[in-house]
Amino acid sequence: MTTRVLTGITTTGTPHLGNYVGAIRPAIEMSRREGVDAFFFLADYHALVKCDEPARVARSRLEIAATWLACGLDPQRVTFYRQSDIPEIPELTWILTCVAPKGLMNRAHAYKAAVDANATSGEDADAGINMGLYCYPVLMAADILIFNANQVPVGRDQVQHIEMTRDIGQRFNHIYGAAWRGATGRDDDPFMLPEVKIEERVATLPGLDGRKMSKSYDNTVPLFEGGAKAMRDAIARIVTDSKAPGEPKDPDGSSLYAIYRAFANENESAAYRDALLHGLSWGEAKQKLAALIDAELGEAREKYARLMAHPDEIEDVLREGATKARAIATPFMQKLRKTVGLGTLAVTVQRRGFKKPTGKRARLASFRDDEGFRFRLFAADGEELLLSRAFGDPKALGDCTRALLAGDAITAIETLDDTRYALVMQGERIAVSSAYPDTNARDAAIARLHAALDSLRG
Ligand code: TRP
Repeated sequence: MTTRVLTGITTTGTPHLGNYVGAIRPAIEMSRREGVDAFFFLADYHALVKCDEPARVARSRLEIAATWLACGLDPQRVTFYRQSDIPEIPELTWILTCVAPKGLMNRAHAYKAAVDANATSGEDADAGINMGLYCYPVLMAADILIFNANQVPVGRDQVQHIEMTRDIGQRFNHIYGAAWRGATGRDDDPFMLPEVKIEERVATLPGLDGRKMSKSYDNTVPLFEGGAKAMRDAIARIVTDSKAPGEPKDPDGSSLYAIYRAFANENESAAYRDALLHGLSWGEAKQKLAALIDAELGEAREKYARLMAHPDEIEDVLREGATKARAIATPFMQKLRKTVGLGTLAVTVQRRGFKKPTGKRARLASFRDDEGFRFRLFAADGEELLLSRAFGDPKALGDCTRALLAGDAITAIETLDDTRYALVMQGERIAVSSAYPDTNARDAAIARLHAALDSLRG
C-alpha cells in the first residue's frame, strides 16, 4: 500500500540552513522511502497573503524550486508543482469556503494573533487584515483534500491548519456524501481526512544568536545563496563567549555544537564535543563546522548555481509536475462539480428523456487493424488526440474505454519526449499521442485531451 504524503512550501523567503535541516532534508529522505507517493508544491498563492512584492515572490519561487531540486528531489518520483499552476485548487477553495464554518476561521492562530496585535496597539480589530489571511486555512484545506493526501508533514505551527482541514473535509463529506455517491456511483466519501505528521525527531536549528534560526530574527545561515563564502561568513558570526584557545569551552553554550550535530554522526559529534571541552578554539571549531556542512552540501550548492542560471529548466520540471498533478485534480473536480450540482446540463436533460444535444463533442472511435482492437480519441473539432495500443479482443478494449470514460480508474499523463505523451491507466500505457512540434504544442494538446475527457465524462 502506498501512502500519499503531501506538503507545501510558502514562497516568500530564501531557504536557510534551518529550513534544510528541519524541512527539506527530511522531506526528500521520506520521498525516497518505499511505499511513499510524495506531493511537494510551492504554495505561491499562500505567499500572496503575506507578501505584495511581486519581485520577491517571483524570486523566492525560483530559489525554493532550485533548492529542492539541488538537494536531490527527484521530479520523476515526486509530484513537484506550483499551486498556481493547478486552477482546480482555487476552484475547490471556493466550494470549501461555502461549507467552512466562519466560527472555525475566527479561531485560526494566525488571524487571532493579528487581531490581538491590533487590540494591543489600539487599532480597529481588523485593521490591515486581508481576506486571504482569514481564509488561509481553506486554501490549505483545498491543497490537501484535492489530492486525498494521507499524511501531511508540517511544523508545529501548522498543526491547527491540518485539524481545520479535517473539520472542513468532514463537514463536506457529511453534507455532500450521499450526493457524491449518487453522482459517481462510488461507495466512499468525497474526501479522505489527512493525518498530521509532526517530525518530532527533527530538532529546530538554533541561529547565530542561539534563538531558533528564523528569517524573522535575522539570525540565519544561508543555505546556497551567496555561495560557500556567504555560509562561512555567517558561521563566523555565530555568537560564542570570549574563552581563549586552550581554555575548556561549554559545547552547549553556543549554537555551534547544535548545528554541528545536525550534520554529523554520533561519533563525529562526540569527538567535536570532546575537542571543545579540551580547549579547541572557537575559530577552529567554526572552520570544522563549515567543512562538515560543505561535505554534505558542496555538490548541491554547485547544482543550485547551475539551476539558478537556467530557470527555463526549472520551469519545465514544474510544468511537468503540474501536468501530473492535474491528471488527478481535473477528473476529481469534475466529479465534485457534479456532486454539488454544477455538472453539465446536457446530462440532466438526457436523464429526463430529451434528445441528446447535437453540438459536436469529443468522441472515442473503436476499430480493428492487423494487430488487434484499438480506439482513437478525437477532440470536438475532429483533431485526433490519442491512438490506443492494440487489445487482443473487443471485450478488453471495451473494459478499457469504459474505465476511461467512468473516470474512476487512476489515469496519468506521461510525457514520452518533447513531442509526444502517453495516457497511463492503472500504471499501464494505454494510448499515445501524435507527435507535436515542441513541448508547448505538446502541453497544449495535453490540455485539449483533458478537456475532451471531461466532456466525454460529462
Ligand atoms: N501554510 C504552510 C506553511 O506556511 C504551507 C502550506 C500551504 C502547506 N499549503 C499547505 C503545508 C498544504 C502543508 C500542506 O508552512
